[in-house]
Amino acid sequence: MENTSDTNSNKAAGMVVAIDGPSASGKSTNARMVAAALGYWHVDTGAMFRTLSWYCLKEGVNPEDPAAVEKLCDQWPAELKAEQGRVFLTVDGYEPAKEIREESTSAIVSKVASVPKVREWMKLTQRECARFGSLVMEGRDIGTHIFPDTPYKFYLQASLEERNRRRAAEGVNEDLSARDKMDSGRKVAPLKIANGAVVLDNTGQTPEQSRDRILAEIQRIQSGL
Ligand code: DC
Repeated sequence: MENTSDTNSNKAAGMVVAIDGPSASGKSTNARMVAAALGYWHVDTGAMFRTLSWYCLKEGVNPEDPAAVEKLCDQWPAELKAEQGRVFLTVDGYEPAKEIREESTSAIVSKVASVPKVREWMKLTQRECARFGSLVMEGRDIGTHIFPDTPYKFYLQASLEERNRRRAAEGVNEDLSARDKMDSGRKVAPLKIANGAVVLDNTGQTPEQSRDRILAEIQRIQSGL
């Protein structure tokens, strides 16, 4: 896999802010806002699993067949790109930004993400993102498996009611409780609160309030309090 990046990026290497939590817990919004505030790269690891899921559908690979998914993951023409504040995967130079949000992809992503060799590939690739500089990385296992040594670990949560409301407002009709169960119940790298993570419940909060709490916690951790 080759990597390309903005040539004019001045982001220094080093820090990782890990943001984990269930679907619609505000990870993407908060990770994007915190990355913008700190001048770090934003990495949406769910989008990476979704990109492979989209590619399975495109190549006619059965997501219920772990051996076939593994084989595809072993050979797919994926490449990391860092542009406009984001690090993301392209396939044959194409970023399937819209397609990965479609219901067909959402329906299979938990299955694809539960294949052990897929998780191994993602772990290596997600760690490789650090070569671009400091990161705000969101996902399910960033604080537990991908960057367990970072001191900046967050676990976001919100009530199921509020999370369903958020998804509906985005025009997405999805069974979040079923996805929660799959993400938390799988054998490899299940969703759970990392040791030392700061747990923030943002039910009823604006994205700005939630972002500011994360930024304040980062400052507190930095000052060693
Ligand atoms: O955050 P999201 O809804 O885009 O994530 C899509 C799926 O990918 C979700 O069902 C769980 C999985 N995922 C994962 O297993 N590990 C991650 N680090 C990120 C996402």
